[in-house]
Amino acid sequence: MVNKKSIHGEWSSRFAYILAATGSAVGLGNIWKFPYITGENGGGAFVLVYLACVLAIGIPIMIAETMMGRRGRQSPINTLATLSTEAGANKYWHYLGWMGVTAGVLILSYYSVIAGWANAYVFKAIFGGFSADAVEVKATFDEFIASPMQLVFWHTLFMIATMSVVMRGVNGGLEKAVQLLMPTLLALLVLLVGYAMTTGEAYFQGLSFLFSPDFSEIDSDAVLTAMGHAFFTLGLGMGAIMVYGSYLPSNVSIAKTSLYIAGADTIVALLAGIAIFPLVFANGLEPGSGPGLIFQTLPIAFGNMTGGWLFGILFFVLLVFAALTSSISLIEPVVAWLVENKGFTRSKASVVSGLVTWALGVSVALSFNVWSDFTIFNKTIFNFLDYLTANLMLPIGGFCIAVFSTWVMHDKHVREELALPEQQYILWRYLASYVAPAAVFLVFLHVLGVV
Ligand code: PFF
Repeated sequence: MVNKKSIHGEWSSRFAYILAATGSAVGLGNIWKFPYITGENGGGAFVLVYLACVLAIGIPIMIAETMMGRRGRQSPINTLATLSTEAGANKYWHYLGWMGVTAGVLILSYYSVIAGWANAYVFKAIFGGFSADAVEVKATFDEFIASPMQLVFWHTLFMIATMSVVMRGVNGGLEKAVQLLMPTLLALLVLLVGYAMTTGEAYFQGLSFLFSPDFSEIDSDAVLTAMGHAFFTLGLGMGAIMVYGSYLPSNVSIAKTSLYIAGADTIVALLAGIAIFPLVFANGLEPGSGPGLIFQTLPIAFGNMTGGWLFGILFFVLLVFAALTSSISLIEPVVAWLVENKGFTRSKASVVSGLVTWALGVSVALSFNVWSDFTIFNKTIFNFLDYLTANLMLPIGGFCIAVFSTWVMHDKHVREELALPEQQYILWRYLASYVAPAAVFLVFLHVLGVV
């Protein structure tokens, strides 16, 4: 029989869950990654493919993953073991949980390094203020990432922050952190969009870059990146939303909340794009300048605008918090597993998993400077981990989740959890059993050059 409540606790309300899950979804992926990968992949067509992936693949899989979590009520590994027993299926399915837990640790190792950049920029904003000059802003960034000591320092600080929230558990730590931060972040993004509108011609150039699709710009790898990003930005395919779903009270509608979360996540990403690209064009910067993009553009805006000192500080503070509410969901699956299976206290589980992630993160920090020549499959450690997790592990995890929830679990149990009106249920089932897995499969075939 399936447990009715998680041993780790439960969200105190539907709203608390929406905030926490939105906190997991909205993060560096929206504000740091979405703009730079859009810039690297030519703009509008990439955005369209990404939006299509969110709709046809992301949302159905989000519903599936949350549903599995709530039915299993444990860490992803144990949830999959329980659910496969319930369905009379092969126990090997629990390895899917292992892949997820591993992906979480790998993602957090580099996520924390980038969150560290944002953290460092809070201090740069406070003590130096930002220059209004694009060349100077770029030089500051280049100098910063060339310093291993600084990157490791900020990464360490961010990992400590993450683990101290995770230690406090579901109600004490996770819930409280997000309640204020999410709305404030949104308000600041709107302010930045307002500033972008003052760039005149460049504003329209930015909008057109984002929204007029030119499909000649896009190849199979760009499609894979867009699809991988849909998983990454929604926090899918590795058990994060599954473990959050396991703390979800039984009476909350999974489908409805998933739609809110995906909607909020998409709006934040698009706002970030609308705020950033006009600045890129107004300052003659390169849209494809990579992971440093927001750190080379937004400071210019803050350096120029009245009150920019304060807004600059606020923006980077909020970015750090947005990252924090995502990073806690990246590590929660392994923490929950250590508590369930190894009998660790939450604190001990947090410290152990945090240390492993931190050590990996140090190698990521070094891959931006002293180890920048060290490559795996022609990629730096950062690029390799990013590609491996976002483009491969998350889509593969998502594919298996879609298949498990529709082909392996009993229809009766799924219906019970989702409690949807018949037509909506049929629509979800169609998307999760056919459309999403087929789409992921096709993209992989395309990348491999088979189709
Ligand atoms: N969704 C987060 C972001 O966009 O920054 C990152 C993330 C969280 C990825 C949780 C994966 C995950 F499971």
